[in-house]
Amino acid sequence: MTTSAPMATPPACAGRVVITGGTGFVGRAAVAAFAGRGNPVTVVDRSAHPDPTVRSVVGELTEPGVVADAVAGGDVAGVVHLAAMTSVLRSVEHPVATYQANVAVTQDLLEGCRQAGVGRFIMASTNAVVGDAGHATVDEAASLRPLTPYGATKAAGEMLLCGYAGAYGMATCALRFTNIYGPGMGHKDSFVPRMMRAALAGRGVQIYGDGLQRRDLVHVDDAVAAVLAAWDRRFTGTAIIGSGQSVTVLELLDAVRTVTGCALPVEHVAAKPGEMPAVIVDISRAREQLGYRPSVSLIDGLATVWQDFAAAGAPLNATAPLNATVDSSTLHNSVVVTPSVVVTPGTGGPDR
Ligand SMILES: NC(=O)c1ccc[n+]([C@@H]2O[C@H](COP(=O)([O-])OP(=O)(O)OC[C@H]3O[C@@H](n4cnc5c(N)ncnc54)[C@H](O)[C@@H]3O)[C@@H](O)[C@H]2O)c1
Repeated sequence: MTTSAPMATPPACAGRVVITGGTGFVGRAAVAAFAGRGNPVTVVDRSAHPDPTVRSVVGELTEPGVVADAVAGGDVAGVVHLAAMTSVLRSVEHPVATYQANVAVTQDLLEGCRQAGVGRFIMASTNAVVGDAGHATVDEAASLRPLTPYGATKAAGEMLLCGYAGAYGMATCALRFTNIYGPGMGHKDSFVPRMMRAALAGRGVQIYGDGLQRRDLVHVDDAVAAVLAAWDRRFTGTAIIGSGQSVTVLELLDAVRTVTGCALPVEHVAAKPGEMPAVIVDISRAREQLGYRPSVSLIDGLATVWQDFAAAGAPLNATAPLNATVDSSTLHNSVVVTPSVVVTPGTGGPDR
């Protein structure tokens, strides 16, 4: 997909933004950013947004009528589609439900937008659409070879966006996020919150293999800045949104030690077959076409997560199972919290 001609729409800050998944981790940050600059916001999620001044459509997007309610009203300028089945492991266990949640819902939303004359549509995609690229640096031209139903359904969603841009002139875009981290992820099961739980609980972590697996982590503030830029520029196409600087699991662990002041002792355990050796991304397109400039350093970003966890005061979700996986692209984590919680960023972890 390439950037399309602009359509006649209200100024960027004027129109209503419908944010699916707006009570989730990224969703709450996106709602705050859009509302904070004056866009009216409607959240569509299974539960109401905690801020009662934010309009909420509460429902299950796979149920009839919810999509129509979401884009009704005549003042909707666009949709930021964040709702998804985000667990890689669950996607493997439940491929049909994953299709319904990630493909059928995206199609229904696109069609609802087309029928309602809503011209902007931004979808949260993932680097997992590419699969295992070894240590290669991945850009948007990489072939799509997803390894899981999660990655495959996100890739399918990207194709639907492409078709609606081509056929109907809608400004549709897929932002392929790497691992997003930041405050508000206490309910998540990815490797940063697992490390934070281990620190809070005074436990150690197990790392699969040598810990030299590389991952790209992007702070939620930078992820949301990319969403705003895509909205404002009516960006059409695909862009990778990451920090552009991958770190090893061991480097990440050191950064968490620095931020938390906790020892986080490590036990290396046998590597998992199939774990992706690296996620290394090129963010040049986002820089050039969105003016995207990731601005939160890993240390500063982890400090925001630690403050959030420390404020919560107790280990959240500390009973996560040993060997549950972490990030989206692969099936195994690289880190486990000992003695009972896994922390690794491996091949496609449980929660993205
Ligand atoms: N967090 C990451 O590291 C990451 C990385 C790459 C891509 N993404 C994508 O970004 C998006 C947001 O992720 P997140 O981390 O905020 O996830 P999250 O699980 O915190 O939030 C998702 C929200 O969507 C809602 N939702 C899901 N399916 C729904 C349905 N059928 N009907 C109504 N509501 C539904 C959930 O209730 C939840 O509030 C997802 O599309 C995810 O695939 C996230």
